[in-house]
Amino acid sequence: MPIFINKENNQFHLTNKTVSYIFHVMKNGELGQLYYGKKLNHRPDFSHFAAYHIPTAASCHGEKTDPAFSLETICQEYPVYGTSDFREPAISLRHPNGSSVGKFEYEGFEVIDGKERIPGLPSTFANAGEASTLIIVFFDKLRDLKLKLFYTIFENTACITRHASLENEGEHPVDIERMMSVSLDLSDHDFTMVHLAGAWSRERHVKERKLQTGIQSISSIRGASSHHHNPFMALRRPHTTEMSGEAYSFHFVYSGNFLAQAEVDHYDAVRIQMGIHPFQFNWRLDQGEAFHTPEVVMTYSDQGLNGLTQSTHTLFREHLISPVWQKRERPVLINNWEATYFDFNAEKIVAIAKQAKELGVELFVLDDGWFGKRNDDTSSLGDWLVDKNKLPDGIDALSQSVRNAGLKFGLWFEPEMISEKSDLFSKHPDWVIHDPERPISYGRNQWVLDYTREEVVDYMFERISSIIESAKLSYIKWDMNRNITEAYSAVLGQDRQGELFHRYILGVYDLYERLTSKYPDVLFESCAGGGGRFDAGMLYYAPQAWASDDTDAVERLKIQYGSSFVYPIYSIGSHVSDIPNHQTLRRTSLKARADTAYFGTFGYELDPNKMSEEEKTEVKNQIETYKTHRSLIKTGDFYRLISPFASNETAWMVVSKDQTEAFAGWYQVLAAPSPKKINVLKLAGLDAFSTYHVNGSDQAYGGDELMQRGLPLPVEYNGVNKNQAERGGDFQSNVFHLTKKGD
Ligand code: DGJ
Repeated sequence: MPIFINKENNQFHLTNKTVSYIFHVMKNGELGQLYYGKKLNHRPDFSHFAAYHIPTAASCHGEKTDPAFSLETICQEYPVYGTSDFREPAISLRHPNGSSVGKFEYEGFEVIDGKERIPGLPSTFANAGEASTLIIVFFDKLRDLKLKLFYTIFENTACITRHASLENEGEHPVDIERMMSVSLDLSDHDFTMVHLAGAWSRERHVKERKLQTGIQSISSIRGASSHHHNPFMALRRPHTTEMSGEAYSFHFVYSGNFLAQAEVDHYDAVRIQMGIHPFQFNWRLDQGEAFHTPEVVMTYSDQGLNGLTQSTHTLFREHLISPVWQKRERPVLINNWEATYFDFNAEKIVAIAKQAKELGVELFVLDDGWFGKRNDDTSSLGDWLVDKNKLPDGIDALSQSVRNAGLKFGLWFEPEMISEKSDLFSKHPDWVIHDPERPISYGRNQWVLDYTREEVVDYMFERISSIIESAKLSYIKWDMNRNITEAYSAVLGQDRQGELFHRYILGVYDLYERLTSKYPDVLFESCAGGGGRFDAGMLYYAPQAWASDDTDAVERLKIQYGSSFVYPIYSIGSHVSDIPNHQTLRRTSLKARADTAYFGTFGYELDPNKMSEEEKTEVKNQIETYKTHRSLIKTGDFYRLISPFASNETAWMVVSKDQTEAFAGWYQVLAAPSPKKINVLKLAGLDAFSTYHVNGSDQAYGGDELMQRGLPLPVEYNGVNKNQAERGGDFQSNVFHLTKKGD
């Protein structure tokens, strides 16, 4: 059991093969943080790690004899607002008398073998023997409030998860104004913050900034985790690289408003917090009720950013993604969106499906436009009944034809939205999130359904279930194209509007939960105008996410590189689309597009009937290549090798756990004449004492050689100027399959 407890001085040491996390109960009854980092051997007493020696403006309340015992300088686990700590608290409550002064004192602890679910929320899971959970219990005697902090440490990965709950055992309601999932004080701030930022079509670009005194944060108040900031933050030491050095990361298992911040104080310590954004948040907790924060995953690595990534990928693959989909291969799919947009009929769709089948595709996905009277994006969201003008025989018959052609059938929904021009809006104008005294903003000509209302969730559950069953769906693309404005719900009442954003996402989770538990064999892909809600909360229900509406291979290098920091590459929806690319008008080769898309869940988003015979043969080979490697892509360790944010090249690779095979991708965006004489790609993660063959050639390379000296890259010259040292054009790429000699 990786949790050591010293009952005499109330010390707790969570540890596994790689990390140690140590804290203790302080003399004021709150928790002090003692150490978080590389594994330490367990010792009976770590109390000498606690250091509080700087006299400050205010000592801890009630503490007369020890003026240096001030919460302002102490590293804490879950700081409570109201006493001698002037940094931002983890929790701040408003009591019936208007006061927000709080005081929670240690009551005891409990240890669970494995991990329990968080009611109503997505979270990581673990069976007995795979993880241990420590629950620390505190009580506010004046207000009869019970606070619990949950810590889970996993056996097989350097991750610790945390969340908190509050139970009202008193007679009066209390308002939760701020309740973070994690607060962590580290004693120095010599870190660079790494995060993922972007916009529609440019999601999850890697950004860095050195921590400075004051608060630096990323957040979303849009009602979704957003295109703009991913709920992820890492702190790396100044010299940490992808391959070496110390780093910490924090991932939020949540899809709504969030705040992630690092507060560097005047003593150069840093407080990291992550949780539901307190802006527009107020939760009324009545007598007998409990509130649970979503979960945060904390990861530590002393092997660089790739180390962080590999631990997080392991956790998400084995303890977050649904067990059904952990094991199954994901089908190679074709989606008709960029091939037809809204302009299709049954003949067109079946023709695409039939051709796709010949190329090796396994699943056909019918995107937007099959329901209501939806010929553009101005109508019909909410009317989830087939458009008989486009598909006179109905969706069930279309599904049958596609399945007769030998493909599985999947469908697009946008369950959280409603169009003004829809039967649903005529019947239920009150189902729209809006302030009844003000006009509603439009976003893509649509409005947001009020998912705080149970009847809305019930309606959507009925509609989607009925279509899953009648059309025998194997897959659903769950899109969400608009953020919440005029945030007001008619059913919540005056005192509870601060609950809207969280209740909204709980409603979304409820629908996901009901659908995925009733139809575990249906594969869900989450989507939000591309990657506007690609987060660990969604991943719990939908094992893959459409990473971006930008399918241009060059843009995708950055998007997929950034996404890989957090999400297993087998969850990153990546398709080969037509050229000129619809987002950038760029022309890249079919090869470059596939070489990029292989490192994700692979598919196509084009009309294969418009391809030449030569292109069809190439696509056939691409699909075969993906099918050959998809099991490795699903389970292997991912290494980022060269960053597209730092150079004209990008490279990455996946190595099987037993190091017997690997699959690497190398990309060069712009060609340049007179290239380096020897261009090599330094690989990683191989067995230094074995030799490998590359792409089936007879030449054997030592694993050490491939990692230290590098794999020679083929240089392609253009045909015109063969004798001149000119590169063969922009957007070059190569993939390499390495097999260990003798295997
Ligand atoms: C946005 C998605 O990201 C696209 O892939 C497509 O499904 C459209 N919505 C359809 O409206």
